[in-house]
Amino acid sequence: MDRFFFNTDVKTDKKNMLLDQDNIPSHIAIIMDGNGRWAKQKGLPRVAGHREGMKTITNVVEKANDIGIQFLTLYAFSTENWKRPKTEVDFLMKLPERFLDKELPALQKNNVKVKTIGDPSLLPPHTKQAVDKAVRETENNSGLVLNFALNYGGRHELVEAVRKLGREVEHGHLKPEDITESLFSDRLLTSEIPDPDLLIRTSGEIRLSNFMLWQLAYSEFWFTEVLWPDFNGGHLVEAVQRYQQRKRRYGGV
Ligand code: IPE
Ligand code: IPE
Ligand code: MG
Repeated sequence: MDRFFFNTDVKTDKKNMLLDQDNIPSHIAIIMDGNGRWAKQKGLPRVAGHREGMKTITNVVEKANDIGIQFLTLYAFSTENWKRPKTEVDFLMKLPERFLDKELPALQKNNVKVKTIGDPSLLPPHTKQAVDKAVRETENNSGLVLNFALNYGGRHELVEAVRKLGREVEHGHLKPEDITESLFSDRLLTSEIPDPDLLIRTSGEIRLSNFMLWQLAYSEFWFTEVLWPDFNGGHLVEAVQRYQQRKRRYGGV
């Protein structure tokens, strides 16, 4: 078995006693993958996997909140996912409002702040409205930041940041030599969010698929073969345990 994979049978208790409370990752990013394969295994249409995957989001948000994660970024739709059949894309574009219609009261109650990264310009109005409403209504919450990457692409984000900087230089607000890593970060969609400490990808794929290319420079990666609809709070705790066993060196010794 690939050494990046671990068994997923770790039993966890409700209080997360297995975790080192002094080393909880502040930001976890997840590439939620494997909905289609989950459905196929069951002889169901792909969209059934997406519907089931939505339930996983509820569980994982709850557990992340429990553990004391401050930022949770979920890759929900990539700039490449438009290549899928229209019926599937249409279904995926309905999921944010379905999820938020159902979960917004609970998110409110738990002081969760909804955010989003990605290019909203291509989203259907009904999707954009549902997300904007959730962002607006939770903007004063101070708990877990739940950040949905929706029509998000890492390369698109980087190109947009370069365009912004180009315009600032063009207008004389900035000199090229003023551009530092920190100034560049400030032009990204994640300017108000720290870089992920931990990246999780489900379903056995070991690639980034254009996700947070700049921000993941020093993140710890954890891959599991569990398909997203089968992923649960216990798996999240296991990922954090594995994270806590790592020694982050950032190029030092
Ligand atoms: C992840 O599951 C959901 C999205 C990418 C929107 P997939 O739909 O990619 O599932 P697989 O990879 O085909 O199994
Ligand atoms: C990445 O998954 C995008 C999301 C999870 C939203 P994909 O299933 O689209 O990625 P590839 O096509 O396998 O690289
Ligand atoms: Mg996939």
